[in-house]
Amino acid sequence: MSLVLLSLAALCRIILMQEPTIQCGSENGPSPEWTVRHPLTPGDLRHLRVELAETNATRVDHLVLMNISWELRADASILSLKATKICVTGKSSFQSYSCVRCNYTEAFQRQTSPSGGKWTFSYVGFPVAPSTLYFIGAHNIPNANMNEDTPSLSVNLTSPGCQDPIMKHKKKCIEEGSLWDPHITACKKDEETVEVNFTTSPLGNRYLVVIQYGVVLGFSNVQENRPTRTSVVVQVKGQTEGATVQLIPYFQSCGNDCIRRRGTVELCLQTDSLNTGMVAAWLGLMFVMVLVWVLIGWLCGTWRCDRGQKAFPPATTLPPLIKVLVVSSPEVCFYHTVCYFIEFLQKHCRSEVILAQWQKKKIAEMGPVQWLTAQKKAADKVIFLLSNVGSAACDESCGQGKGSPRESSQDLFPLAFNLFCSDLSSQTHLHKYIVVYFRGVDPKDDYSALHICPKYHLMREATALCTALLCVTPRTSVEKQS
Ligand SMILES: *[C@@H]1O[C@H](CO)[C@@H](O)[C@H](O)[C@H]1NC(C)=O
Ligand SMILES: *[C@@H]1O[C@H](CO)[C@@H](O)[C@H](O)[C@H]1NC(C)=O
Ligand SMILES: *[C@@H]1O[C@H](CO)[C@@H](O)[C@H](O)[C@H]1NC(C)=O
Ligand SMILES: *[C@@H]1O[C@H](CO)[C@@H](O)[C@H](O)[C@H]1NC(C)=O
Ligand SMILES: *[C@@H]1O[C@H](CO)[C@@H](O)[C@H](O)[C@H]1NC(C)=O
Repeated sequence: MSLVLLSLAALCRIILMQEPTIQCGSENGPSPEWTVRHPLTPGDLRHLRVELAETNATRVDHLVLMNISWELRADASILSLKATKICVTGKSSFQSYSCVRCNYTEAFQRQTSPSGGKWTFSYVGFPVAPSTLYFIGAHNIPNANMNEDTPSLSVNLTSPGCQDPIMKHKKKCIEEGSLWDPHITACKKDEETVEVNFTTSPLGNRYLVVIQYGVVLGFSNVQENRPTRTSVVVQVKGQTEGATVQLIPYFQSCGNDCIRRRGTVELCLQTDSLNTGMVAAWLGLMFVMVLVWVLIGWLCGTWRCDRGQKAFPPATTLPPLIKVLVVSSPEVCFYHTVCYFIEFLQKHCRSEVILAQWQKKKIAEMGPVQWLTAQKKAADKVIFLLSNVGSAACDESCGQGKGSPRESSQDLFPLAFNLFCSDLSSQTHLHKYIVVYFRGVDPKDDYSALHICPKYHLMREATALCTALLCVTPRTSVEKQS
């Protein structure tokens, strides 16, 4: 009987016993427990974790707080635990420091929580600013006595910047233009100009538009007082298709350091051609071009390019495609230059291009020397594509990890050069070779034999190059010569 009563009493005690919770308040100075010596002090925390907690999205200044959670060690020292103190140091342009003390409402009677796990608590507080490094430290109270180690745990948190979907609603970020949508569109009008359109912001009136492709190709300042769609034409030097547009705004709150926006340069669409008025003009232009084509054909066929060949195909049927073997020097970026150049040849110069990079399997089967010899025979023209820009500069503008196909052409270029070298000293074969530069002026000394070939500058002399190609006599006669 008494046993039953005893166990009932024990049961009541457990039911009545309150579970400890936390009550937290700011405590920036030292804790009062510091000044007193404690015979027993609690051990350190078992675990400390910090994450961002978005609190209320409808508030004017979107509040982002830290959710700091910790776990207590399940050991006997928990009996002397009264509170846990958390201090946060923030480091951005200035330093901040603040502490919170969380008192446990009850003394701990048991080492584990009623559910059987470790005691776990969390505190949501400490407003988070964008792009800031926070050091979060926590220790239990009473602290260790003087000359004893104070056990504490610390973690780091780097808050996201103003472009983060949560952070961008913070007042500070809005002032730096986080919600401004410039909607950048940019297109290459011609080799020397890029047109950039964007919507200006009410936050400022000065912008810098930079076109870059690894290196800066051109820039322009824009001044606009009110928010509007604005258009600027930027003078550029170099290849701009696929380049990046960087829009740098100057706003009052952030000066030079505001959120920068990016866009990509595309090819301008010829929307005008849809205009019926323009259609007639285009037709007229095409008619003129056909006339020019016929004239060039006639000139080439009769006296300029052709010495042994009399018959030029009638203008009514298009001549067969011109076979062009393109050998690119290893300094030339594959994706940005070789591909671009080849596309140009195919689209504008009626050329069928032979490229080592596309025939790796065949080269492996035949061997590079046989392959090159066969291609030289088959081709109407051999183009050496050269660049004086070093590989380093090339890699920079290609972006890392993109230049892999260059490796195969790397071995082929010197080989092709040496193989075809004997032709370069013979007038009858020389006509077959063309040198095209991408930037730079002269071939490297290693390839000085190429000096005697006709040279064209990519893409400045694109039309002249095309004309030279279109002047080529049909393949059959070339094969006879070589
Ligand atoms: C926590 O306890 C300390 C010492 O008893 C007291 O000074 C402080 O006001 C308490 N804080 C809160 C938030 O209850
Ligand atoms: C957010 O705050 C508004 C007013 O400040 C309040 O009416 C709303 O209930 C809050 N929402 C949440 C999810 O806390
Ligand atoms: C804070 O973190 C704890 C532990 O991860 C979680 O249980 C709690 O729901 C979080 N609170 C908020 C407001 O996010
Ligand atoms: C916090 O960051 C600092 C500086 O980057 C580093 O020295 C320290 O080890 C980090 N601490 C933790 C707990 O990650
Ligand atoms: C820029 O705006 C002008 C005028 O509205 C328009 O003609 C042009 O196509 C636009 N260009 C780009 C790149 O969006």
